[in-house]
Amino acid sequence: MVTYDKTEIFYISIGIWLFLGQVNSGSYNILTVKTGGSVTIPCYYDRKYKHQKKYWHSEIDMSNTYTNTTEENLSVIDRPDQSLFTVTIRNLRSTKHDGHYYCAMKIEGKTIVTYGLYLQVQSEPDVSVVSSSVSGHEGGDISVQCFYSSGYQDKLEEWCRYKDQSCYTVGRTNTSQNSSVQISDDGRSSFTVLRTGLRLTDSGWYYCSAGEALNPVHLTVTEAEQGTFFSIIHKYFRFCLSQN
Ligand SMILES: *[C@@H]1O[C@H](CO)[C@@H](O)[C@H](O)[C@H]1NC(C)=O
Ligand SMILES: *[C@@H]1O[C@H](CO)[C@@H](O)[C@H](O)[C@H]1NC(C)=O
Ligand SMILES: *[C@@H]1O[C@H](CO)[C@@H](O)[C@H](O)[C@H]1NC(C)=O
Ligand SMILES: *[C@@H]1O[C@H](CO)[C@@H](O)[C@H](O)[C@H]1NC(C)=O
Repeated sequence: MVTYDKTEIFYISIGIWLFLGQVNSGSYNILTVKTGGSVTIPCYYDRKYKHQKKYWHSEIDMSNTYTNTTEENLSVIDRPDQSLFTVTIRNLRSTKHDGHYYCAMKIEGKTIVTYGLYLQVQSEPDVSVVSSSVSGHEGGDISVQCFYSSGYQDKLEEWCRYKDQSCYTVGRTNTSQNSSVQISDDGRSSFTVLRTGLRLTDSGWYYCSAGEALNPVHLTVTEAEQGTFFSIIHKYFRFCLSQN
């Protein structure tokens, strides 16, 4: 199953080099996840590469796992309709999983790295979210709370969309940033992102980050409610939450 040769390593290295030089400009993404838990990572690609072979590369054992592979502790699934493939890793252990990984594809024999990260499994992750999947209705609101460890209190905190890498920065009043996203930071252990006036196109993968540590969140926006039952329930829960 481990398939690589010298040429491949060469291209991988070139790919990583290009990737780091162009996309990441020096900084590195560290995805922090809880011991024993699981994580899903989105790998976006250009729509024109819909039919290309894509894979998840692990630097730990230099293995490539191609799309539409489902194993007990690893799934790599292509979602061409969304121009991404997702990688889910389960039963995380730091001894086994800590390391560098890349989303990549082969185009005319060359490896193109589209995303790279360092996975760090921790008993108390540096950055975490209560749920990595949230959903809301068109026109409604959604809020996501991101927790960070004490060492990250003074780091730059952001809420970003994977697809275009657009970010909202905590504590920075920037009138050109969209007022439909509000972020409040308790200055101690978490910040909360409130997204109002949801649109169907807001669906997709986001991440919250503190410094170089991040955690992905999937947002699902469904069509507006026709009836009133759910909106009453929704309002009721929002009322309860606002009382806390
Ligand atoms: C999946 O992870 C569990 C827990 O670490 C381990 O016991 C099991 O052998 C793993 N399965 C495979 C197929 O590697
Ligand atoms: C992977 O599965 C998706 C549907 O889940 C399908 O659209 C896609 O063509 C498959 N890709 C490959 C390479 O088999
Ligand atoms: C304000 O936001 C815009 C768009 O996100 C960005 O280009 C600009 O650099 C930001 N300005 C400051 C002062 O942060
Ligand atoms: C803010 O977002 C709303 C809805 O998502 C959009 O209609 C509007 O154009 C955005 N404004 C800016 C300045 O990006």
